[in-house]
Amino acid sequence: MPPFTSLTADQRWNLVAYLYTLSIPEGRLDRGKAVYADKCASCHGATGKADAQRAPGTPDLSDPARMADRSQATLML
Ligand code: HEC
Repeated sequence: MPPFTSLTADQRWNLVAYLYTLSIPEGRLDRGKAVYADKCASCHGATGKADAQRAPGTPDLSDPARMADRSQATLML
C-alpha cells in the first residue's frame, strides 16, 4: 500500500479516531462524553491533556502514540 504522504501524522490519527467512532452505536459517544465531563475531566482535563493538574502523574489521554497500544479491554479496567 502506498504511504499517505498527503496527510500529517496528526491528520492520520484523527482519521483513525474518526473510523473508530463508526463502530460505536449512536448515542454512546454522547453518553461517554457526559460521563467523562462528570467523572474524569477534573483530573484529565476537558480535552484529556491532563491540564487540570489536580493529581500528579495524570497521563495525557489525548496522546495517540501513548493510547494506541491500549486495548478497549485494558481501558475498561
Ligand atoms: C482523581 C484524579 C483522576 C480522576 C477523577 C480520573 N483519573 Fe484517570 N488517571 C489519574 C492518574 C493519576 C492516572 C495515572 C496513574 C495510574 O495509571 O494509576 C490515571 C490513569 C488513567 C488511565 C491510564 C492511561 C494509561 O496510560 O494507561 C486511563 C485510561 C484513565 N486514567 C481514564 C480515566 C477515566 C475514563 C476517568 C473517568 C471515568 C478517570 N480516568 C478519572 C487520575 C484520575
